Amino acid sequence: MTRDIRRPVAVAAILSLPVLLAGCELGPKETTQYGPRGAGMEGVANLNLATSPGVPPPSAYPLTTREGQRAREVYPELKALGDISVDEFNLLMANITTWVVPQDAAPTEQGCNYCHNPENMASYEKYTKTVALKMLQMTQNINVNWQTHVKGTGVTCYTCHRGLAIPQYSWSFQADEDQSTILGNKQGQNTPMQAVGYSSLPNDPNSYFVGNTEIRVGSKTIHPSGNPAGTKTAEHTYGLMMRMSGALGVNCTFCHNSHAFGDWQASRLQKVNAWHGIRMVREANEGYIQPLQTVFPANIGRLGPMGDPLKINCQTCHQGHSKPLGGVSMLADNPALAELPDVQPIPAPAAVVVAGAMRATDAVVGAVAAIPAATAAAVGERVQAAREPVVTGPTS
Ligand code: HEC
Ligand code: HEC
Ligand code: HEC
Ligand code: HEC
Repeated sequence: MTRDIRRPVAVAAILSLPVLLAGCELGPKETTQYGPRGAGMEGVANLNLATSPGVPPPSAYPLTTREGQRAREVYPELKALGDISVDEFNLLMANITTWVVPQDAAPTEQGCNYCHNPENMASYEKYTKTVALKMLQMTQNINVNWQTHVKGTGVTCYTCHRGLAIPQYSWSFQADEDQSTILGNKQGQNTPMQAVGYSSLPNDPNSYFVGNTEIRVGSKTIHPSGNPAGTKTAEHTYGLMMRMSGALGVNCTFCHNSHAFGDWQASRLQKVNAWHGIRMVREANEGYIQPLQTVFPANIGRLGPMGDPLKINCQTCHQGHSKPLGGVSMLADNPALAELPDVQPIPAPAAVVVAGAMRATDAVVGAVAAIPAATAAAVGERVQAAREPVVTGPTS
């Protein structure tokens, strides 16, 4: 290379630096140490990109006493809220309206009328009231039976809905795309999607949020022999892990010590919390939301392309933060959402399985199909059973 060429090359290299560096994230960072020193367990947050976890709206008015006439004495048909006082019942109805009913609802659907016929409040002629009852029962079940996950903080309708009729983040089964390329079947891979952090991992990790598909893939012995999980299964697990990390706005070491992803002892307690979260989400989807399939009217955007209702995943509540709403509890003014009524509710209609192809694995479809009519109870039992034999799981 002669001298004359080297100089323009050097100048060009220097001039292109800003372009190359544009790929780096500029701005102040904050590092949080999660694990023991030297373990590399830390989170790095870009302060310029930090968002607020959201601020819960104030209660319509504070709940001062739980004494007084029981709601069931006035409204004998109540199924989920009969045990509380009339005053508390009225407050909850007002709060639910703030949390779920959209500001821009049609004039006939505004406020209480989103769910009620004002001429007959006991009537279930609006599908939204049937949905709301199931949602009430789902919320109570989460707060009472899943304290392993939501702790005393708990959730309300607002955790998911945030003033919208349909929560911002949900998912449903998708039709099988044409996976064939010149190189063969893509297996859902190499399609950049936010769900899997734009990686080339399988892009339907949502199928883990129903059914019973095994997530663990690591060998239990030094040699991989006898490990039923193949490479493809491992890729699906990594896709799910990207999904969960994105939903919480954290990286892998928020839960794992990356020297041994499968080791519960070396992991943080957050991994145990997440394990319960996965089971909680499965139960909510199968026991409460999927059975609403026959309740939602078609063609108003409440069902996915395969005809199933929009279901929840970690993002529905967490919305990019490790604790939804920054860990602020809204239960003090709404304690009935963390209690189960004495009289057990009437079971929901049977889950109807979506016909046709779906991207979820056969195992998932089979598991949804296997849910009997008395869904909530049955799923509760099954999940309970799944909780116990976790030999190498969170409790060991
Ligand atoms: C998101 C849907 C929804 C909204 C909005 C809503 N409700 Fe309700 N309401 C329900 C459900 C579900 C029940 C039944 C609860 C149960 O069975 O425990 C109910 C029951 C009632 C009942 C008892 C009716 C009876 O005789 O059985 C009254 C009264 C009532 N609501 C008043 C109101 C008022 C007043 C508002 C507005 C401030 C309101 N509701 C807003 C869903 C809603
Ligand atoms: C864990 C998340 C979650 C919680 C908590 C939750 N919901 Fe929902 N809700 C959903 C999802 C997801 C949908 C959308 C289902 C669909 O469209 O197929 C929904 C839909 C609804 C709808 C139907 C709205 C429409 O316009 O069709 C109503 C009404 C509703 N929820 C009421 C409630 C009430 C009342 C509570 C609290 C007692 C509540 N939800 C708590 C996730 C949640
Ligand atoms: C919010 C907590 C959390 C985050 C963040 C998380 N994981 Fe996980 N991970 C879990 C849980 C819980 C399990 C076990 C699931 C089960 O047993 O059902 C698991 C399982 C795994 C496994 C299988 C381990 C085994 O026993 O075979 C691998 C591999 C893994 N995670 C990798 C990752 C990677 C890579 C990331 C970052 C992209 C990540 N995880 C982020 C909670 C988390
Ligand atoms: C119904 C709403 C809801 C859903 C869905 C949900 N979570 Fe949570 N999660 C919560 C609440 C509420 C807390 C806060 C509990 C507390 O205050 O400690 C929480 C806390 C956590 C924590 C502990 C965070 C910390 O800073 O210690 C982890 C980890 C977590 N969730 C993971 C998950 C994962 C993974 C999923 C999906 C499989 C999931 N969650 C789904 C409501 C939810």
